[in-house]
Amino acid sequence: MSDSPTVQNAPDLTGGAVGGDGPTHVAIIMDGNGRWATQRGRPRSFGHKKGSEAVREAIEGAIRSGVSVLTLYAFSSENWNRPPSEVRDLMGLLRLYLRNEVAQLNKENIRLRVIGRRSQLDNDINVLIDEAEAKTSQNTRLTLVIALNYGARAELTDAAKALAAAVVEGRESLENITEDRFAQELSTADLPDPDLVIRTSGEQRLSNFLMWQCAYAELMFTDTLWPDFTKDDFADAVTLYKGRDRRFGKR
Ligand code: IPE
Ligand code: IPE
Ligand code: MG
Repeated sequence: MSDSPTVQNAPDLTGGAVGGDGPTHVAIIMDGNGRWATQRGRPRSFGHKKGSEAVREAIEGAIRSGVSVLTLYAFSSENWNRPPSEVRDLMGLLRLYLRNEVAQLNKENIRLRVIGRRSQLDNDINVLIDEAEAKTSQNTRLTLVIALNYGARAELTDAAKALAAAVVEGRESLENITEDRFAQELSTADLPDPDLVIRTSGEQRLSNFLMWQCAYAELMFTDTLWPDFTKDDFADAVTLYKGRDRRFGKR
């Protein structure tokens, strides 16, 4: 450990991953499905299909690396701006995933969680999500979080609104609104913050992903397009992560 002075009451931003340990929580921005398909002269839907298969690679990579939480950005609140046919394709793949993969996840002791605004999703998808979450709720090997119709600004706005309402109605005092209290209003309240964010496809931006939770995450960008992502790519990212010096503002 360093010789830096012990700071009492300093927020614990480490998520349990300090000093060369592997990440506890890895979050992935799964990008590049469309380009992957276009490069092959195929429709974007083909890329999305292949992309949904790469999820298996990420899960296996996470389990092999001893990761506890894997969050996958599957559909952003801005992705509604895509052509309706593409949105339909993506929702269709989600239905297929929830119908076909949950039994396997359960067998592997994986817990499934969904974050993001549920109200805009079709009812049958919400039913499938409820069933999947209930079925896997006791599983402990890995928590797989799917960010669906997720946008950090919407999440932060909702949290601010909920706390403001609580104060106005006298259920909460202003003095109680600390960073920890704020974090409790987020969809990730019971999860550690991501230690590592991986974005595929060469883009280097967050695209409205977990902006509060990633305040101190290590960021990694790879040119690999999401459908080509493998468990070895995951392991490589974890190795690079272990070489990073996470300082959290200390010297
Ligand atoms: C990621 O691939 C999947 C989603 C955003 C749903 P893209 O569809 O964004 O692929 P590119 O970025 O156009 O290649
Ligand atoms: C981010 O990818 C969202 C997901 C991976 C689900 P996008 O392809 O939508 O992001 P931008 O539009 O390039 O920033
Ligand atoms: Mg993209």
